Amino acid sequence: MSDGVNRQFLLAARPHGMVKESDFSYREVAVPAPGDGGALVRTRYISLDPSMRGQMENRADYVGPLALGDVMRAGAVGEVVASNNPDYPVGALVSGAFGMQDYAVSDGNNVPMRVFDAAIDPTVALGVLGGTGMTAYFGLLQIGQPKAGDVVVISGAAGATGSVAGQIAKIKGCTVFGMAGTDEKCAWLVEEIGFDGAINYKTADVKAEVSRLCPKGINIYFDNVGGEILDICLARIAMNARIVICGGISRYNATGRLQGPRNYFNLVFRRARMEGFIVIDYAHRFNEAVQEMRGWIDAGLLKQKTTIIDGFKELPRALIRLFEGYNTGKLMVRTG
Ligand SMILES: NC(=O)c1ccc[n+]([C@@H]2O[C@H](COP(=O)([O-])OP(=O)(O)OC[C@H]3O[C@@H](n4cnc5c(N)ncnc54)[C@H](OP(=O)(O)O)[C@@H]3O)[C@@H](O)[C@H]2O)c1
Repeated sequence: MSDGVNRQFLLAARPHGMVKESDFSYREVAVPAPGDGGALVRTRYISLDPSMRGQMENRADYVGPLALGDVMRAGAVGEVVASNNPDYPVGALVSGAFGMQDYAVSDGNNVPMRVFDAAIDPTVALGVLGGTGMTAYFGLLQIGQPKAGDVVVISGAAGATGSVAGQIAKIKGCTVFGMAGTDEKCAWLVEEIGFDGAINYKTADVKAEVSRLCPKGINIYFDNVGGEILDICLARIAMNARIVICGGISRYNATGRLQGPRNYFNLVFRRARMEGFIVIDYAHRFNEAVQEMRGWIDAGLLKQKTTIIDGFKELPRALIRLFEGYNTGKLMVRTG
């Protein structure tokens, strides 16, 4: 906690290739005061999300522009510490795009805020019930439309979104296989959160393993990574398959010409559908998802794992670590 001081990381440079610590600059400013109808939020945990990379380059047109010198945009959860707005009383647990800073001011419109039940752990509000949990829920259920008995393959499976999507697919009666970058992550998927199998995409023959695990084809491929793995899965889709394009992390730090999916024409032969989505389009339904997911958490059907890095000053390095696969489950920095 930095009394009276608001620590901030600003966007200092547009990254080329992998994000670097020098793409950020640090400064300390006075803590702002909330204006009429505003509330002052003290951030407690700041989220690291792959989409921050695109925002640093202004490639994410579904959110506002981010200029050099702006506070780096980031999702966070925190506590209202001063308020002129009865919707956001002092002490309320709130989440929003508060940025890489200790304190943010919002009236709920300039930075939309979600208010959570005080009984919810802040790491759960930022994780399984936060943006990535909502992404898993709406991506799988709305775009993937799982049916009992479906074979579901998930890439980036040990991350925040993939691990929740896989557990929801299990709740819906599917057979679920995940791909992740270490043997430890693969073991966690199978032994701790109930996946039916996992592939270490860095060491295995992914094509051969997908064929072995899914002899009748893939009904739903939930894609977090794009690239070669998307192509391999496209080659193995079953009739009427759904390919959920959630993300494409393999391309976010890539330089040079990007390869398109070579096997997309299988969509025609298999009468399949490949569809992207952006989670914020479902914001009006987040409460509905939270209610259902809390029921699954209470019933022991949905588990959350967090990778927490301590210390505000670790934020730039933490974003780099996300791309290095440091995290299992949701990656966040505890700031105070
Ligand atoms: N559509 C939407 O509205 C929406 C919303 C939120 C997130 N997303 C997308 O969902 C995906 C997951 O996001 P998240 O926040 O849950 O992150 P995450 O999965 O918790 O963390 C990222 C993980 O990606 C893996 N990874 C990194 N580089 C990779 C590469 N080149 N190839 C394959 N895997 C790689 C790493 O694990 P390994 O050890 O397994 O490599 C890393 O731990 C991202 O693509 C993100 O953009 C989409």
